[in-house]
Amino acid sequence: VAESTATDPGSFRGLFPALTEHVHLASCSLGARSVALDESLGRMLSAMSRAPGSAAWVEFEQEIDRARARFAALIGARSEQVAVMPNASVSAFQVISTIALGTRDTIVSSVGEFPSIAQVWLAQRSRGARVLRAGGRGYDALVDHRTALVSVPLVTYDAGALQPVARVARTAHAHGCPVFVDAYQAVGVLPVDVRELDCDYLVAGTHKYLLGLPGVAFLYVRDPAAGGLEPTLTGWFGRVDPFAFDACVLDFPESARRFQTGTAAVPSIYAASAGLDLVERLDLDDVRRHVQALVETAGRLLSEQGEVVHLPEGAAGQGAHFGFTDPAPDTVGRWLAERGIAVSPRGGLVRLSFHYYNDVDDVQRLCTALRAYRARRPTTPGRAG
Ligand SMILES: Cc1ncc(COP(=O)(O)O)c(C=O)c1O
Repeated sequence: VAESTATDPGSFRGLFPALTEHVHLASCSLGARSVALDESLGRMLSAMSRAPGSAAWVEFEQEIDRARARFAALIGARSEQVAVMPNASVSAFQVISTIALGTRDTIVSSVGEFPSIAQVWLAQRSRGARVLRAGGRGYDALVDHRTALVSVPLVTYDAGALQPVARVARTAHAHGCPVFVDAYQAVGVLPVDVRELDCDYLVAGTHKYLLGLPGVAFLYVRDPAAGGLEPTLTGWFGRVDPFAFDACVLDFPESARRFQTGTAAVPSIYAASAGLDLVERLDLDDVRRHVQALVETAGRLLSEQGEVVHLPEGAAGQGAHFGFTDPAPDTVGRWLAERGIAVSPRGGLVRLSFHYYNDVDDVQRLCTALRAYRARRPTTPGRAG
């Protein structure tokens, strides 16, 4: 992986060649392509040429363990507490499969939950679960002696609102139940520390702010062997010794590897290494200040030109993205993409997201393009269809 010593936004941006021409405001959907990403995938291909067959697998396995260790360090965890998973939904399923749903039969989620995670919780109704969604009343009103799991996103996928996870965790723990945090929209662009959040589980995929590719999610488990039940989805990489090849044995390691299933997506692991390498060199407090300033500037400028921006007062409660309303977000997205500006439409919102590689010039190019779009199409901003 290329040595990157870029610690200021300008030189960090230089590690992403496409950004000389394009404005990338879509990291909440897919991070920008870096030189390091290409190099890391090249390293995987070289391993296949140099050591064809099972020798390449030895290198792949080492790469998986290195990526696991790096992710663990990034979130203040130990390697043994991190499982390498295919995505966040499977991670959520694995977690809930280890939790008995008896007298504690309730999963408390939130209205801001990413649908795929929320749907895994809903699917537990076939096991007798009751699923509640915390909205305006918050978690305090819903968590009680019947709660089996509390689930909260660190940053909501639509509005980009930062959630008070540590406070939710205090409420959950006071009632003796564990907390699952979906940190997909936070890890890589905000400081995330599982000890400060005091969560029991945390999941994050690698293709957004972690600057890798789809195909891998990391699952942190505070106390892997403490759950009452064993995971019900499993496979050889969930065994004590995956290479024992004993089809009559179903053992589970003490570590978070017990949540793993089959073969990992190796190209995505190499991509994750490249992204982790880029991110771990950054001071994430600096990154957070940088993206918050851009969120504030973009929100103010877009409001001034008449867009209906969804942003709380001040950016303190905001992650690295926000949205503005449009009747046809996909049409706006396509129109901007044709002009070299990547944004991320979702629902009734056009989402704009920021990483350390973005700058004020990106915001200005977006504002200019959007003015041109509004001048062309006489729609009323804010009137969602
Ligand atoms: C908050 C959040 N969670 C999860 C996901 C993805 O879930 P999965 O890995 O199951 O596809 C996304 C977006 O892709 C997301 O924004």
